[in-house]
Amino acid sequence: MSHWEMAPRGALKGSIRVPGDKSISHRSLLFNAFAQGEARVEGLLRGLDVQATWGCLKALGVEICDEGDVVVIRGVGGHFRESHSVLDCGNSGTTFRLLCGLLAGQPIFSVLTGDKHLKKRPMKRVTGPLEAMGARFWGRENASLPPIAIHGGQLRACDYSSPIASAQVKTAILLATLQAEGEAVFREPHRSRDHSERMLRAMGADIQEMADGALTIRGGQTLAACDVVVPGDISSAAFFLVAASIVPGSDLCIEGVGLNPTRTGILDALWSMGADISVENQREVSGEPIGNLRVRYTELKGTQIEGELIPRLVDELPVLAVAAACADGETIIRDAAELRVKESDRIAATAAGLRVNGIDVEETPDGMIIQGGRLQGGHVSSAGDHRIAMAFGIAALAGGASRIDDVENVKTSFPNFRALLSEVCSG
Ligand code: S3P
Repeated sequence: MSHWEMAPRGALKGSIRVPGDKSISHRSLLFNAFAQGEARVEGLLRGLDVQATWGCLKALGVEICDEGDVVVIRGVGGHFRESHSVLDCGNSGTTFRLLCGLLAGQPIFSVLTGDKHLKKRPMKRVTGPLEAMGARFWGRENASLPPIAIHGGQLRACDYSSPIASAQVKTAILLATLQAEGEAVFREPHRSRDHSERMLRAMGADIQEMADGALTIRGGQTLAACDVVVPGDISSAAFFLVAASIVPGSDLCIEGVGLNPTRTGILDALWSMGADISVENQREVSGEPIGNLRVRYTELKGTQIEGELIPRLVDELPVLAVAAACADGETIIRDAAELRVKESDRIAATAAGLRVNGIDVEETPDGMIIQGGRLQGGHVSSAGDHRIAMAFGIAALAGGASRIDDVENVKTSFPNFRALLSEVCSG
């Protein structure tokens, strides 16, 4: 099992770019694979999660050509070829759930599986509504846990109110509805990331948003392939935003970061803690707002993170908890029960890591109450979760020496995390 030894390395200085956005990278491959025509994708994240999507699509008969800086996808025009082998989604919930939506509309037999972490993650949230539309699923615990077999086709559009705010659920239903008869209305308790709606519209889909935020979508729509330039991933930038905010003397610029308002909760949370972050050179690329983020060290104070903010920063909560541990006063995180069913139980794993670091933290069913203090370092387990590993890698920069176990999965989302840190750390 691989591990990191990390220790304080001085202020973070300079200018960096983080790898491509993971959500947009998956969508650029999946949607263009399903569409009619050829598309070029620039800035695709070269992480294992996106590699898993790529492998599954190849097995389904999609031609994807790696030209280095650009990836060229030749769409199947709405008809995948039945795969002879099991489709392995690795650690990637996005690959699994979005493929469930696409394959629900295909009259072929598919089996989806993943690694030991993915095999524990709840899939009924997608297989349930897709079954109601007419697709058939087989799997453990009533098609809730991978591996899951699918036979799709002959779908009827259904209205669906999701009990959770989840872009994966929303996207699975949108992709199935495109292949269904009738019209659907989709609702969720808070707005989840909207990369799918933006990209599907750019590919010619008619998706309307009603005054109350509900989405309406007609069945029987086809997609036209569309080139994509993938912005830097704000979820990866988040580790550097927190690092520069908590290590004295830091002054760092992160260029070309995606600033979609459904993803910028990390900025709102850090600003509410008093962080010194400015947004520069805002522009739009492939229908997504982007900009440069300049972050300088400053003393932070505790805050409350809850409600509609949660889906806008859900993947950033472990590293925000590290910021909270360095802040003056108490930080309360609530309404985040979803964290318990991510790549690990992120509430338990984050609380355990903070306790190792000598921080007073109370775990609640849907969040944490963190008393700011001084990170002391120590021996932390990542629970095999990339974002827990990186969060405690950042904690080590502001605290004492740390050993972080089981860091292999950092390759799923941010393969050059340590190399970039070395580039900007002065010590
Ligand atoms: C993602 C949506 C979020 C997020 C995940 C990526 C996506 O999950 O946590 O890392 O690309 O749609 P949920 O949809 O389960 O909230």
